[in-house]
Amino acid sequence: MTNKKRIVQKILRVLCLMTLLLNHSISFAQVYGQNGMVVSSNVLASQVGVDILKKGGNAIDATVATAFALAVTHPSAGNIGGGGFLVFMNAAGEATTIDFREKAPLAATADMFLDSAGKLIEDSNHRGLKAVGVPGTVAGLYLAHQKYGKLPWQALVQPSVDLAKKGFVMSWGLYKDALEINEEEKTPDFMYSFFRNTKGEITKPGEIWKQPSLAKTLKLIRDRGQDGFYKGKTADEIENYMKMNGGIMTKKDLEKYTAVERKPVHGTYKEYEIFSMPPPSSGGVALVEMMNIIELVNLDSVKFNSTAYVHLMAEVMRRAFADRAAYIGDPDFNPEMPLDELTSKVFAKKRFDNIDMTKASVSDAALYGHPYDGNNTTHFSVVDKDGNAVSLTYTLEYAYGSQMGSNNLGFIFNNEMGDFNPVPGLTTNSGQIGSPANLIAPEKRMLSSMTPTIVAKNGKPYLIIGSPGGRTIINTVFQTVVNVLGYNMQIDKAIEVMKIHHQWLPDVLLYERHLMSPDTRTALEAMGHHLREVNSLGQLMGITYDADLKVYIGASDSSSPDGGAAGY
Ligand code: DON
Repeated sequence: MTNKKRIVQKILRVLCLMTLLLNHSISFAQVYGQNGMVVSSNVLASQVGVDILKKGGNAIDATVATAFALAVTHPSAGNIGGGGFLVFMNAAGEATTIDFREKAPLAATADMFLDSAGKLIEDSNHRGLKAVGVPGTVAGLYLAHQKYGKLPWQALVQPSVDLAKKGFVMSWGLYKDALEINEEEKTPDFMYSFFRNTKGEITKPGEIWKQPSLAKTLKLIRDRGQDGFYKGKTADEIENYMKMNGGIMTKKDLEKYTAVERKPVHGTYKEYEIFSMPPPSSGGVALVEMMNIIELVNLDSVKFNSTAYVHLMAEVMRRAFADRAAYIGDPDFNPEMPLDELTSKVFAKKRFDNIDMTKASVSDAALYGHPYDGNNTTHFSVVDKDGNAVSLTYTLEYAYGSQMGSNNLGFIFNNEMGDFNPVPGLTTNSGQIGSPANLIAPEKRMLSSMTPTIVAKNGKPYLIIGSPGGRTIINTVFQTVVNVLGYNMQIDKAIEVMKIHHQWLPDVLLYERHLMSPDTRTALEAMGHHLREVNSLGQLMGITYDADLKVYIGASDSSSPDGGAAGY
């Protein structure tokens, strides 16, 4: 290569990097797109999705491509070793969902995390390979594509193969994760080496990070579809890794896994229609219950962020979470769940009527609660030029899930078994729930809080929204929907403004520090609320439609270090 060529190449590389960095710095503001949009927690993955849209792919195609790309570029939560939910609305306003939640392995039992005295062995439901549920992501994306996709499957998986094989620029966000993981005492070997280059050093920001084993695993999925993961070489290696390291999942579990298409939970708020995820997520039911209650309130008289606002929202959340704990689990194991009742206007009135606007109610474990989960699921929203929309949330449960995986496969297993109720019958004031609907059983799906949601106006997708955050998801999505529908906020504002979280038990009201005034806090405490500050709640990724301008507006939460919207 001549010197001149070398210099030109160097300039091109610098320009590429600058474009990337520029993208990063502008991506938190609103992004406008007339033809399509993807908003995710990694701007490179958002761009992969938009490239698919530009090639004529529809929203489902872009979703599949983005989801696989996130498995490479956002490995704390983007995944092939976990599971999740997808809500799809076509341009005609018809909605459906795909449930690809993990399942308990065949060898799982209700008391598998208890000692001989019936006590939960601390952390056992979240640490080690027994905590791994049978992954659902590949099956879910495959089913969505088979039913509603347009472009060939291979074309949708290829970008993620390229990202894993050729690598991408290490971001500061990922680098921070890598440093933190390496400081943890119990970091498993797999995770310890995850971010390291061939010399054994953690890849630094600005350097290219490659994942060759993951590229091979993705190639098999690209070439063989679902079977490339659940059968053959990958399945053999998963079983082998599980056997060698104390797991219980087998090839039979993988072979038996299926994703399921389910009818969405449906509700209304004024002129809007809400479509969200049904059980095994509790998100949709709780969201509709809370929206029904809020519809009974004249929000003009409840100023946003006032004491009355926080009190009202917290009381609404408290009630919905008590109902969640009492009734909701995997529908295939709980055929009698009163879903119609919980989402009815009459039921909402009953719940609304006993809210005292002057003082906090008391949460009582004898009636019916989960510790606060971290911020490590991921949500993305997609819309295409025809107005088809997808809202998808998927997770490994904790950040980097179980932190375990086979070096030959290059992906991380979830620790989703921790979402089951661990001790039959034991509901505590600290928030552990023991109700029957969500006890462990073979092939059962664990209860989730993920709330991918699409709100329609005039029969067309109007707001596409979702978030990570464990149980806080339901509440941050709820507040963002109320912000847009009830308080007429623009999507970026609706995502950024103050969020709170109350989950019935523990009886604690979390709020975003710096965003609630000291006077409001004092007033709330005087009403009997138990306040606790947190740095931030939720990491919302949303799109709205501006019917006047005929344009989609996307925004990603500023709490997402690498997130961003891409539109065209
Ligand atoms: O499905 C659920 O509700 C949880 N496994 C989600 C976990 C989560 O969001 C963790 N952090 N953001």
